[in-house]
Amino acid sequence: MKKIAILTSGGDAPGMNACLRACVRYAIYNNLEVYGVERGYLGLINDDIFPMNTRSVSGIVQRGGTILKSARSQEFCTEEGIKKAAANLHVHGITTLIVIGGDGTFKGGKALSDNYDVNVIGIPGTIDNDLQYTDFTIGFDTAVNTCLWAINSLRDTMDSHDRASLVEVMGRHCGDIALHAGICGGAEYILTPEVPFDLDEIAKGLKRGGSRGKTSNMIVFAEGAGNRDEIVKYLSEKSGVKITTTRIGHIQRGGSPTAFDRMLAVRLATRAIDCILQGKRNSVVGIHNNQIIDMPIKDALELPRSFDKRLYEIARVLAL
Ligand code: F6P
Repeated sequence: MKKIAILTSGGDAPGMNACLRACVRYAIYNNLEVYGVERGYLGLINDDIFPMNTRSVSGIVQRGGTILKSARSQEFCTEEGIKKAAANLHVHGITTLIVIGGDGTFKGGKALSDNYDVNVIGIPGTIDNDLQYTDFTIGFDTAVNTCLWAINSLRDTMDSHDRASLVEVMGRHCGDIALHAGICGGAEYILTPEVPFDLDEIAKGLKRGGSRGKTSNMIVFAEGAGNRDEIVKYLSEKSGVKITTTRIGHIQRGGSPTAFDRMLAVRLATRAIDCILQGKRNSVVGIHNNQIIDMPIKDALELPRSFDKRLYEIARVLAL
């Protein structure tokens, strides 16, 4: 019987468990022998590899986080670490590894498949939505909804006191969470790492807001868009408007996955197993125009990242 292993790596994302559950059960149904790996690539190096059955994934479809646990392993970034990981897989007779994670996870998987005889299949699981080849990653929708909940709550109290609020969401290099949560929350300003912004213009807008009858102003700020505290100080001083700061932080990485993320997890997981059954090698699965797709890892990683500028412009227009 063909043996496969599954791991989750990098920042966890809501829906990873739903994905794992679908992988395990659909694989077993198709006569594959399934192993789990604890703590991502670190677990591969430490040989934390254990057999899984259909009951191993009971009661997790609704749970955020990952029961396999996750880690960012420095050791796996070394040649020695990759070699150890591959050797452990070979000892168990495991020929295929499913990795659920983001960009870094896929790069790790590629390093493993390039140099050792391991077939790696990647499933996109990250709240960041920063993989170009797929329209959505598992966990993004839940994270956006969590941020939106916070923005809605803030708006209530900001309105009552005629205040402005800056809310920081995650995204060191990718402004997708800010863009989507900002649009859905009716943000007046969305600051992301991808689009330059003019603080003097924003300060003027904050002042003008009052004269246009706006009773509150919401700035949604992606963490990688600049120095948050300096920006708040500058805007407050220039506009004379009091700006409160809220950092949503790791709350947006947890929580029960939305229906969208669970469906996506199921569709991607089953396609990943189908890839294995069809003998596809070193591929990633994704979603494009609501169709599930697969492509070589190498091609997916080579695509340059682009940001939806049109949506960004629409956000500006809708905030007038
Ligand atoms: O990779 C996902 C992510 O959530 C980023 O958006 C964020 O900047 C980072 O992880 C935080 O990582 P950590 O939890 O390791 O501080």
